[in-house]
Amino acid sequence: MPYIDDIEESKFPEKEIGGVVYARVCRSEDVFERQGKRIAFAEDIDMQIAIFRLGGKVHCLHNICPHRHADRMHDGIIRNGEVTCPLHGWTYFIESGENADPRQGRKNLAKYAVFEEDGYVWVEKPDIKAIPKWRR
Ligand code: FES
Repeated sequence: MPYIDDIEESKFPEKEIGGVVYARVCRSEDVFERQGKRIAFAEDIDMQIAIFRLGGKVHCLHNICPHRHADRMHDGIIRNGEVTCPLHGWTYFIESGENADPRQGRKNLAKYAVFEEDGYVWVEKPDIKAIPKWRR
């Protein structure tokens, strides 16, 4: 089943706050409760993030599951504040990106700063240089 169609790849408006570059990635009304949303900053899948809304608050994590380097976290199953990768079931805390089950190893999802302003979602832009070489 194709899943790549929902990638929103484009140049997003940016602004710098306290030395951090934020991108205005979507409207707040497009991020639904307990449903992930994928945003792609470039063709490189490591430049994807996943936005979640829990209890009205938005959270932003890297979209790449470290188990098999799959860009599917936005498609994960969300329950009890955790998101479970739809491919093999690795689970992470949405608020922190931390691994929720030690049996699956110690790898976490990167967490990015996010806020809402005037009906839009702004996220900290991923830094491609901060992404480990083994994942490129
Ligand atoms: S790729 Fe996510 S659990 Fe395997």
